[in-house]
Amino acid sequence: MIIKSEDTSPKDLYKLMIGMVVPRPIAWVSTVGEDGTNNLAPYSFFNAISGDPPVICFAPSRKPAGDNKKDTLRNLESSGVFVVNIVSEHLAEAMNQSAADVPPEVDEFALAGVSVEPATMIQAPMVKEALAKMECRVRQIIPLGDRPTSGILVLGDVLCFHFAEGLVDNFKVDPSMLNAVGRMGGTSYCDTRHRFDLTRPGGNTKL
Ligand SMILES: Cc1cc2nc3c(=O)[nH]c(=O)nc-3n(C[C@H](O)[C@H](O)[C@H](O)COP(=O)(O)O)c2cc1C
Repeated sequence: MIIKSEDTSPKDLYKLMIGMVVPRPIAWVSTVGEDGTNNLAPYSFFNAISGDPPVICFAPSRKPAGDNKKDTLRNLESSGVFVVNIVSEHLAEAMNQSAADVPPEVDEFALAGVSVEPATMIQAPMVKEALAKMECRVRQIIPLGDRPTSGILVLGDVLCFHFAEGLVDNFKVDPSMLNAVGRMGGTSYCDTRHRFDLTRPGGNTKL
């Protein structure tokens, strides 16, 4: 079966994308608005894309109404900084609560029932309960279209990493302790508890 993108509705294209590209990591992005309101929202169009410089990307989609911009994007444009908090399994429900479509003046930390910890290098809030987080500065914002559901790619330089005590040994993150969750299609998620190793042909390399 072949499905051509040009013959497919935006709604169905979205369903294909989120059902096929799985599992997706989740960036739980915290920002601050111009009025000082703390904002928190999950983004699973997210990945790490460069080691040196350390760069991550995520993509808020355009909304159908108003100025089309999600609060996270508007805050990035005004502040230029953000934090990516990693969602461990015990934070999955709080992460889901923070995805509610609420007005910008609503503090989504309070909505999700998590605590604010100030970042150290930037003016942005972090999720205190998260075991791993990255303080980031916006490198580039690249709009990929101007229709509802068009993505707006955000590239961010990672300025520093935060890890809970015992989570990192010799720069190696303990995946069992991090216990991150991933997003599947629709409302489904997966855990990262069932893993297996493969040795690369020619031996394991660093990249
Ligand atoms: C697990 C999960 C992943 C999500 N990923 C994205 C995403 O990659 N891009 C996007 O635009 N919205 C995504 N959403 C929806 C946003 O979180 C939602 O629109 C939220 O209200 C945006 O908040 P904001 O306006 O405070 O930025 C996701 C929701 C969930 C629950």
